[in-house]
Amino acid sequence: MTWEDTIKMIRKDPFYEDLVRNAYFEEDLSLNLQRYKQDLEYSEIKAWLNELGFNQGKILDIGSGNGISAVSFALDGFQVDAVEPDPSDTIGAGAIRWLKNHYGLGNLSVHESFAEDIGFPSGTFDLVFVRQALHHANELQKFVEESYRVLKQGGYMITVRDHVVFDKKDKEWFLESHPLHKFYGGENAYHPKEYEEAFQKAGFSMKKRYKYFDTPVNYFPAKKEQVDPQVKLGKLKDTFRTKYSIISRFPLAFEVYISYLKFRGVSFENNEMKIPGRMYSYILKKD
Ligand SMILES: C[S@@+](CC[C@H](N)C(=O)[O-])C[C@H]1O[C@@H](n2cnc3c(N)ncnc32)[C@H](O)[C@@H]1O
Repeated sequence: MTWEDTIKMIRKDPFYEDLVRNAYFEEDLSLNLQRYKQDLEYSEIKAWLNELGFNQGKILDIGSGNGISAVSFALDGFQVDAVEPDPSDTIGAGAIRWLKNHYGLGNLSVHESFAEDIGFPSGTFDLVFVRQALHHANELQKFVEESYRVLKQGGYMITVRDHVVFDKKDKEWFLESHPLHKFYGGENAYHPKEYEEAFQKAGFSMKKRYKYFDTPVNYFPAKKEQVDPQVKLGKLKDTFRTKYSIISRFPLAFEVYISYLKFRGVSFENNEMKIPGRMYSYILKKD
């Protein structure tokens, strides 16, 4: 089954309703776009750009899929080139072209090609942005080197939400746990060292490495209280006080309750190894 067939199939199956919505795979392309643009992930990314002092310029969005990030940047006034090898009207270049026409975006161009063979002149872009596509690279090193080549001196590459694995077993666990890999077989992940060596070899300096728990960009649409054990613990303490007001007056009562929960297997640690194929994001600079 192709990626496009997979998306069309899961749209019809209520079991995947949340996944379809959370991954912006709905049939209504402008609805996906509007939701992504208003969601926390995109506002965090805009905050990163602000911190970098990046308010205008040319963006190359690689592996754009149905265009959520490329079109959002274009709507925000940036000059954007979207590179997407899949011609699909559902989840590929055709979908981005539809959005371009829908919003009348003269500042967005769509190119059907792979990152390893993008063909833009060197030093063209101020920012290369890659959302959930680097881990799909045919050749990781070439993907990163081409991104470096087409950036201007002083430009940035931002890669977000790429799956990381730490050994063969961890990768198998990720592929088995992935909800769609069994249909289309196209999932992949690299060791953080593989990404980081590729960045370094290409010439990038790494400005930020965001591990899974470091930013909502990685874990959105999960909320901070769902992924951050300390926030979870705080909320639990409030509930405990309200629910067991008499018992909670005893010193250590809450600690005993937590020990019990731990005994039952509830984790209160920021342990990314408990998340199959947890995602990382990077900010890189061409110095
Ligand atoms: C998981 S999707 C992400 C799409 C989009 N960036 C998003 O976040 O919704 C990965 C995308 O990368 C594209 N892709 C896969 N290999 C690629 C490559 N070597 N160069 C560029 N894009 C690639 C796929 O066609 C797919 O659209």
